[in-house]
Amino acid sequence: MGYIREQIQVIKERDPAIKSTAEVFLYPSFYALLFHKVGHYLYKKKWYFLARLLSQLARGLTGIEIHPGATIGKGLFIDHGMGVVIGETCEIGDNVTIYHGVTLGGTGKDHGKRHPTIGNNVMISTGAKVLGPFKVGDNSRIAANAVVLQEIPEDCTVVGIPGKIVRIAGQRVNPCSQLDQVKMPDPIQMEMCKMRQNVDALQDKIQVLEDTIVELHKLKDEKCKEAALKTHECTEPNCPNKEACETYRQ
Ligand SMILES: CC(C)(COP(=O)(O)OP(=O)(O)OC[C@H]1O[C@@H](n2cnc3c(N)ncnc32)[C@H](O)[C@@H]1OP(=O)(O)O)[C@@H](O)C(=O)NCCC(=O)NCCS
Repeated sequence: MGYIREQIQVIKERDPAIKSTAEVFLYPSFYALLFHKVGHYLYKKKWYFLARLLSQLARGLTGIEIHPGATIGKGLFIDHGMGVVIGETCEIGDNVTIYHGVTLGGTGKDHGKRHPTIGNNVMISTGAKVLGPFKVGDNSRIAANAVVLQEIPEDCTVVGIPGKIVRIAGQRVNPCSQLDQVKMPDPIQMEMCKMRQNVDALQDKIQVLEDTIVELHKLKDEKCKEAALKTHECTEPNCPNKEACETYRQ
């Protein structure tokens, strides 16, 4: 009964589409988490086959595959559900919201703890993938279709592939100048910023050189014309405008 009460509260809080309490029993999240509760109990008792069996039954029923070894806190809500995968060593804090198409998985490179640890009040949007044994800090938001491959501090918004922090506590992060390197070390992005700045500086220098060359050509032309007017002969050695000077003299 406690589980049903919790689910009614959680779903009503997080899904504005729900119209009546009875609809709670239509949510795949409700059944997937119920099966997981029993499956996790069996897993801890080392009844692995039965635990996996329940997990696979829940997957068939709801499209949500939660490995029975995953540790899940209070108030998880999986909206829509289809295509969600939660790995064996994944740990999920309290009041987390997950949308359809989310994978909390491994990269295939780690052994033992291979899946992420999700903090409290985290939102993982539709299609997002969080891959590897790192932590996603409390209150962070992972955008739709982001692929997160490294630790995320608290209160961050992460977007893109690979996932980049674009907001910390609601404040926009400028990757070149405002990035907090303690919270988010990203040497590749910093190198890219440096290279972009160097390219800009080089472009400015090239522009100055091009302008100078044009000015020098203009000066040379003027000099040729003056010489032609005065002496009827261009005195400029190796004059690049011999033809123009000749025409000018006539
Ligand atoms: C990430 C999200 C939760 C918004 O979080 P937020 O902290 O309020 O962030 P903002 O809306 O201010 O967006 C921050 C920046 O990320 C960009 N952004 C947001 N979502 C993005 C996404 N999925 N992919 C790429 N960029 C995204 C915004 O354009 C904005 O860019 P800017 O800094 O250049 O203006 C939201 O964009 C999102 O992805 N929601 C999906 C929820 C969902 O799965 N719904 C399914 C219901 S069925």
